[in-house]
Amino acid sequence: MTSNVVASPPAPDVPALSVDAARLLGRIEKFASIGRNAAGGIEREGFSDADREARAELIREAEAAGLAVGVDAAGNILIRRPEGTACTERPTLLIGSHLDTVVNGGRLDGTYGVLAALEVLQTVLESGVEPAHEPVAVAFANEEGARFPQPFWGSKVLVGRLAELPEEPLAHDGTPLRDALARVGGDLDALGTAVWPQGSVAAYLELHVEQGPVLESSGDSIGVVTGITGRTVLTVVVRGEAGHAGTTPMEMRRDPLAAAARILLAVEGLAQEQQLCRVATVGRLDIRPNSPNTIAEEVQLTVDLRDGNPVRLELAEQAVRNLVATVAQERRLEIDVEVGTRTEPAQADRTLRDAIADSAVELGHRYQLLPSGAGHDAQIVAEIAPMGMIFVPSIGGVSHVPEEDTKSGDLVAGADVLLRTALRL
Ligand code: GLV
Ligand code: MN
Ligand code: MN
Repeated sequence: MTSNVVASPPAPDVPALSVDAARLLGRIEKFASIGRNAAGGIEREGFSDADREARAELIREAEAAGLAVGVDAAGNILIRRPEGTACTERPTLLIGSHLDTVVNGGRLDGTYGVLAALEVLQTVLESGVEPAHEPVAVAFANEEGARFPQPFWGSKVLVGRLAELPEEPLAHDGTPLRDALARVGGDLDALGTAVWPQGSVAAYLELHVEQGPVLESSGDSIGVVTGITGRTVLTVVVRGEAGHAGTTPMEMRRDPLAAAARILLAVEGLAQEQQLCRVATVGRLDIRPNSPNTIAEEVQLTVDLRDGNPVRLELAEQAVRNLVATVAQERRLEIDVEVGTRTEPAQADRTLRDAIADSAVELGHRYQLLPSGAGHDAQIVAEIAPMGMIFVPSIGGVSHVPEEDTKSGDLVAGADVLLRTALRL
C-alpha cells in the first residue's frame, strides 16, 4: 500500500468549496445522542424507535436546510435539491450510507456518511454552484440487519434484488417488518416502486469510517477504497431434546447447545487454522429455553463468513455445511442451515478512485489505497452504478462498539474530499 504526500494546489476547474465543519460536527454530536445507552453505545437497530427518531431528525435537518425529502417504499430517505434548483436532466450522483446501527454500536458507522452527504447537498445549494452531476443523498434503511435480519435491505430494494428478500420479513423475535416499515412511511407491497433501473445512477459515493487500524497506523487521513469484501451469513438451527439438567444421564442427552459450541469453535478454525476464508464469526446465539437447569431444546447461531474471493467464500460455506452434517450425525440432532444473506465482493470504479485520490491530494491530505473488510451499501449499489468509497481513520481501529470514534479533523477532511469529488465529476 502506498502513502501519498501532497503538495499540489487546487485544480482550477473544481469550485473551491468546503463543508461547514461546525455544522457537520454538531450534527454528528446530535445524532450520537439518539439511541444512546447507559454504556455510551448507540442502539439504533433498523426500524426501531430510536432509528425512527434519527430518521425524523435527518428529515427535519434537511428540510430546514431548504432541501426536498422523500421516503421510498423500502424506507430509504432520499434528499434532493428543491425544485427549481435541482436539475433532473443531469446525471445523478447518489451519495449515501445508513443511520441504523448494530446493538451497542458506535456513533459514526453509517451516520457519518449520511450526514456528510447532507452536508454536500446543503453546501452546494447554499453556494449556488452548478455541478455537472445532480447530487442526491440517501440514508439506506436497515443496512446492518441487527433486529430485522435482512442486512442491506434498503440498497437491495433500490437495485431491484427483490427476489432474494423474504416476502414477509420478520425480526429475530418474530415481529413482522410490514408494520415497522409502514411506520416509517414505507410499503412492503410497493417495493417495486423503489427500484432504480440500470443506468439511472451515474455514480455512487459513500464516505465511511475505516472500522479497522490501517489508516491510523499509517498516519494517512484518507483511504481510497479499492474493493469491498464478500460476505455470507448463515443461520444454523440446532434442534435437540430439552430435559432436566439433574436427572438426564449424559449418554441419553441430545444437547443442541453443546453441539452449537462445537460448531462455533470449528467455524473459528475455518478462518484461523484452515484459512479457508479471511474471517469467520459466530456473533449471535439464541438459546431456547435458555435456563440454567434445563438442557436446551433449540439453539440458533449465526455464522458470518467474509472473503474478497467469491470462490473461497463458497468453499467456506460448504465447509460449514459439512461440519454441521457431521455434528448432526455424531450427536443425533437435527441441524438446518439457512442462508441469511449472500453479498458478493465488489470493486470500486477506477475513475471514481482517481477522482477521490486527486481530490485528497488537492486538499492537502495524505491518502492510501485499501480494501474494505466491512460490508457497505456501496457493494450493493455497485450492481447498477460505478461505486467509489472514501475512508477516514478509526481511533484504535475499532468499530461496532461504543468506543468507535474518529478525530474531528479527519471527519471534516473526509467530508471535504467527498464534496470535492462530487464537484469534480
Ligand atoms: C456491516 O456493517 C458489516 O457487518 O460489515
Ligand atoms: Mn456496521
Ligand atoms: Mn456502515
